[in-house]
Amino acid sequence: MTTLGTPLSPHATKVMLLGSGELGKEVLIALQRLGVETIAVDRYDNAPGQQVAHHARTITMSDPAQLKALIEAERPHLVVPEIEAIATPMLEELEAAGTVRVIPTARAARLTMDREGIRVLAAETLGLPTSPYKFCNSLEELQAAIDAGIGYPCIVKPVMSSSGKGQSKIDGPADVQKAWDYAMAGGRVSHGRVIVEGFIDFDYEITQLTVRSVGADGQIETHFCDPIGHVQVSGDYVESWQPHPMHPAALEKSRQIAKAVTDNLGGQGLFGVELFVKGQDVWFSEVSPRPHDTGLVTLCTQHQSEFELHARAILGLPVDTRLRNPGASAVIYGGVEAQGIVFDGVEEALRVPDTDLRLFGKPESFAKRRMGVALARAADVETARTNAKLAASKVKPRMA
Ligand SMILES: Nc1ncnc2c1ncn2[C@@H]1O[C@H](COP(=O)(O)OP(=O)(O)O)[C@@H](O)[C@H]1O
Ligand SMILES: [Mg+2]
Repeated sequence: MTTLGTPLSPHATKVMLLGSGELGKEVLIALQRLGVETIAVDRYDNAPGQQVAHHARTITMSDPAQLKALIEAERPHLVVPEIEAIATPMLEELEAAGTVRVIPTARAARLTMDREGIRVLAAETLGLPTSPYKFCNSLEELQAAIDAGIGYPCIVKPVMSSSGKGQSKIDGPADVQKAWDYAMAGGRVSHGRVIVEGFIDFDYEITQLTVRSVGADGQIETHFCDPIGHVQVSGDYVESWQPHPMHPAALEKSRQIAKAVTDNLGGQGLFGVELFVKGQDVWFSEVSPRPHDTGLVTLCTQHQSEFELHARAILGLPVDTRLRNPGASAVIYGGVEAQGIVFDGVEEALRVPDTDLRLFGKPESFAKRRMGVALARAADVETARTNAKLAASKVKPRMA
């Protein structure tokens, strides 16, 4: 049974978000609507989620001492990681000591924060189909792995990285050195370990949003959203839509894979399982134990967005994963490098039929920083994609 309190009172239900970007902001809004007291943590001041939370805290989340001190001072009921770069061994320690509950579990946060933990679990422990892969600590090891069987084309990624940072495709021997150097410059921590993966020539890729929530009988239930299709450019999502049409056999396999991974990671909450599909073959790629960027589309397609689903699931409340209507999302990049930018064209964007907009409120813009997203509803996905891209193109970020 879930009992919720009154925020800012002695019986408040307190939730701390570790990472308060655009995805965390929507989770925080969903929690606010249920009267949860929220603490938004980020590495910089005025992060999007900090602007809508009861409390804002700025720390280095990868520093175990800072993380421990903050959690012990605030004593939240739940700690909800929104990003990967967190001192997860400290979360495991605090969870084991009974200080706090981590969503979905501290172990899941640790395993998914680097590509090695989750890949070894999926491919070797669970025996799920993945691309062929090898971990390498030097240029020589990388070349040897490619020559010994990974072959060309292949993809190199720092084990600690996200959003395509440091990731590149190798088409032949001439690209190997460049890919290694790029990975070394783009990793989150400079310890020089990469994964090299055989290139999967997929027909399409999907995100299978999967929710572990508590059923009426008190047992954990697994719920699936309709598949989300997306386009990635240089490893970063630019467009997504829902539902993505799938062969029933491929959908069935996708859900079996998603169930196997999320069963193992455990806990309560929403997961974004990334899968590659070719005909009826499905490969597991990676999983986020939290809302997924491509799932921003659910803000306009589902009865409950992925953010509401996450908020409900972590609080032990029932969820409804049904689609309401087809829709699409298109990313709005900053385009400029500046603080406190302004957005022209918002009015024109919202004149595109059945569209909506999220401007995240990030204090600083970079050329390739995601500053907003356009959303479109339609009777079919194609119309929704056209309108989402049209609306996004009307928004013009510029220096003030
Ligand atoms: N082995 C692969 N074969 C083909 N495409 C891949 C492979 N690995 C990654 N990609 C492409 O790059 C994108 C980003 O890779 P991913 O592993 O999801 O990194 P990130 O953690 O940065 O999202 C994928 O969504 C897919 O489009
Ligand atoms: Mg990914």
